[in-house]
Amino acid sequence: MRTDPLAYLAAELDTLSAQGLRRSLRELTGEQAHRSVVDGRSVVNLSSNNYLGLTNHPSLKARAIDAIERLGVGSGSVRTIAGTMAIHAELERQLATFKQVDAVVVFQSGFTANAGTVSSILTKEDIVISDELNHASIIDGCRLSRAAIKVFPHKDVDAARAIVRDLPNGPRKLLITDGVFSMDGDLGPLPGLCALAEEYGCIMMVDDAHASGVFGRNGRGTVDHFGMHGRVDVQVGTLSKAVGALGGYVAGSRALVDFLHHRARPFLFSTSHPPAVAAACLAAIELLLAEPQIIERLWDNTRFFQAGLRTLGFDIGMSESPITPVIVGEGARAMQLSDRLFAEGVFAQGIAFPTVARDRARVRAIVTATHTRDELQFALDAFAKVGRELGLV
Ligand SMILES: Cc1ncc(COP(=O)(O)O)c(C=O)c1O
Repeated sequence: MRTDPLAYLAAELDTLSAQGLRRSLRELTGEQAHRSVVDGRSVVNLSSNNYLGLTNHPSLKARAIDAIERLGVGSGSVRTIAGTMAIHAELERQLATFKQVDAVVVFQSGFTANAGTVSSILTKEDIVISDELNHASIIDGCRLSRAAIKVFPHKDVDAARAIVRDLPNGPRKLLITDGVFSMDGDLGPLPGLCALAEEYGCIMMVDDAHASGVFGRNGRGTVDHFGMHGRVDVQVGTLSKAVGALGGYVAGSRALVDFLHHRARPFLFSTSHPPAVAAACLAAIELLLAEPQIIERLWDNTRFFQAGLRTLGFDIGMSESPITPVIVGEGARAMQLSDRLFAEGVFAQGIAFPTVARDRARVRAIVTATHTRDELQFALDAFAKVGRELGLV
């Protein structure tokens, strides 16, 4: 009989089980919302990136349904062959206006936007200078580019400067940071990094996945928040989080976008979005422009929830955004906290190594604009009860 060549995978999974780190995927039977049915239980949902509650907003749903009726369910091709529908182009025009840039190209996801862009604008002769906590899609893009990768300590502009100063003149240099760091919720030091990029002629790139729809005027992102328009060469945004649907985009110059049309591999070799996705995103941008008070509600809820956790004595790190890490240390402890919260009716996912450092495991809670105060208070009460039980507060 043939021996299973993948037997080592089961052994790896056993190791995870022994470490208390093996997880099964939790399943939502209804909508992604502030209160959802997860694994058959109705829980206050603090685990999504649905910051503004747009995943099931009536106007996005109506536009998506209308697009299906008029344009069908799929695009049937990659963008460069027959998969550029008028609605894709319209979305890119609206995004470019929204972001105050010359041009935008939409990718299938934020992940492919990052990985596809970094890997195509650099070659193995070039150098990336990257924050140590940048997102996995940036890291993968850097690896695919085969450029040399220099990592600076988290948010440390002086350390980045010391690296850049010592680099040879010849190679191109890309200085890259997340706008909002996805596991800690703190902000990239854009003013310092932009000044550094200008001083040494680096390409400046910001991944604004968690800032899109959250920071800046009408949710234009951290470049707007910090007043850095015109100083960031490559901005990545996502349509999968606050915008409520799916996708990523690169905003910048016309030449950058035209180049990506020719060289970015996910753009060239993977089918474009169904028209309903583009339609929902168009509705979301209109909403951000017409009803910025939704973003204010997100921030009100964030302030309320984070103040509550701090008062209880939890360590929520350096968060400056609705991403709220409740840092507990060991991975198994984070999973225990998450499981106990779930039993109390609160869904907040545990995050452990390799997503975060081994001793910085956490439960990651994300507040949304659509949570009610009662739901957030209910969640705080559950954190208080379980936190005391586990000796965390
Ligand atoms: C910082 C950051 N960049 C990029 C992405 C990828 O975005 P998307 O989910 O649209 O692929 C994520 C999402 O996990 C993220 O947290």
